[in-house]
Amino acid sequence: MKISIVGTGYMGLATGVGFASKKNHVICMDIDKKRLDKIEGGKSPVYETGLQDLLEGVVEKKNLEVSSDLDYAVKNSDVSFICVPTPSKRNGSSDLKFIDKVSRDLGLSLSKKDSYHVVVVKSTIPPKTTEKLIIPNLEEFSGKRVGKDFGVCMNPEFLREGSALDDFLNPDRIVIGELDKRSGDALVELYANFNAPIIRTGLKVAEMIKYASNAFLASKISFANEIGNVCKNLGIDVYEVMMGVGLDHRISPHFLRAGIGFGGSCFSKDLKALVNKSKTIGYDPVYLEGALNLNERQPVRIVNLLRKRVGTLRGRDICILGLAFKPNTDDVRDASSIRIVKELLKFGAKIRAYDPKAIDNFRELFPGLLYCKTAREALRGSDACLVLTEWEDFKNLEDKDFSVMKNRVIIEGRKALNPNKVKDFEGVCW
Ligand code: UDX
Repeated sequence: MKISIVGTGYMGLATGVGFASKKNHVICMDIDKKRLDKIEGGKSPVYETGLQDLLEGVVEKKNLEVSSDLDYAVKNSDVSFICVPTPSKRNGSSDLKFIDKVSRDLGLSLSKKDSYHVVVVKSTIPPKTTEKLIIPNLEEFSGKRVGKDFGVCMNPEFLREGSALDDFLNPDRIVIGELDKRSGDALVELYANFNAPIIRTGLKVAEMIKYASNAFLASKISFANEIGNVCKNLGIDVYEVMMGVGLDHRISPHFLRAGIGFGGSCFSKDLKALVNKSKTIGYDPVYLEGALNLNERQPVRIVNLLRKRVGTLRGRDICILGLAFKPNTDDVRDASSIRIVKELLKFGAKIRAYDPKAIDNFRELFPGLLYCKTAREALRGSDACLVLTEWEDFKNLEDKDFSVMKNRVIIEGRKALNPNKVKDFEGVCW
């Protein structure tokens, strides 16, 4: 099938490369020409497991091309995926300015095309946005009729950063919210060679499935963190507890890893948008707000623990291992490390930081920190160490690596260190 992808961020690019690897022809469209140049040259603009190799392959085989011309992308494809960001506004609601713009532009491009075309929304958008904003824009700017001249689907993504390609190629389920059967059939054909159940449903149900999934996962983490906080005070290892809890098949062992809270570009943003949406319809979402509030506080706990151990932080050299919001990505958006660094700086600490991939992105937010080339360099001469991302590299650290510290205080915010290799460290919830 011929596909165009509008927006080549993490999700758009992984989707485009994934479809291209399934022998579709993909046009990646973006307004950022520098980004497109990189992609065209077979260089991934983001670090994502497996993406670089697969991208090189599909570019070489000419299954993937780039264009900054939306008319060209629409004209030369049967299906267009909207993959633009929907960031949070100050009040937590979803900022739909990119969705608004792209759906107008797509409408204009559709006006110049004679054959049937399907527009698919992949971006995360509040329930009813496809019906209330996207379809009216498409109709107005194309001068055409939805359901007759063009089709519309809402096909949420469930891609985790760091394993986005694997999640794309091996999904648990494929959700197709369809305007009508003809629109949905096009997507069913596109996903025919995926080994996953397909759920065909309405547009607003599909939109809500995405929010409910993320809200559930995020609140599952907050639940584990709350139990972890109680466990810490009782001298109990929450990881042992959750092993026992997760074996109940009604609960499942996933997303019960307690720590410094969830970060990343989706969970907080989507929870906030759902909270905001609930309030605008007169419902007070106490459960969702609880999950969010706990997550705001969770990173601060590790700093409080550190202060208890070392006293004043003023002028102290604090080593931070791990800046990315999770391993296998260079992404620091909404990372717990940001909250923790702000808190440390507030108390006058000096920070020496190391991360295998995320230093460049973190430096943009905090240019004044000392960034080190290795974990050992960051540890050297430090008064304490906080481990904030569970990178595989950190599992190999040994006692001798920590022997270069001035004062041996080690606290991990994620289960990252190997207790067989490192002695005397404590966890934020264990
Ligand atoms: C998430 C969703 O998983 C994905 O389906 C959605 O489409 C996008 O948002 P992502 O943000 O990439 O994906 O990462 P994820 O693996 O879900 O982790 C998010 C955050 O939660 C990370 O900071 C991670 O460290 C934290 N987390 C995850 C925990 O603290 N404990 C856990 O048990 C799991």
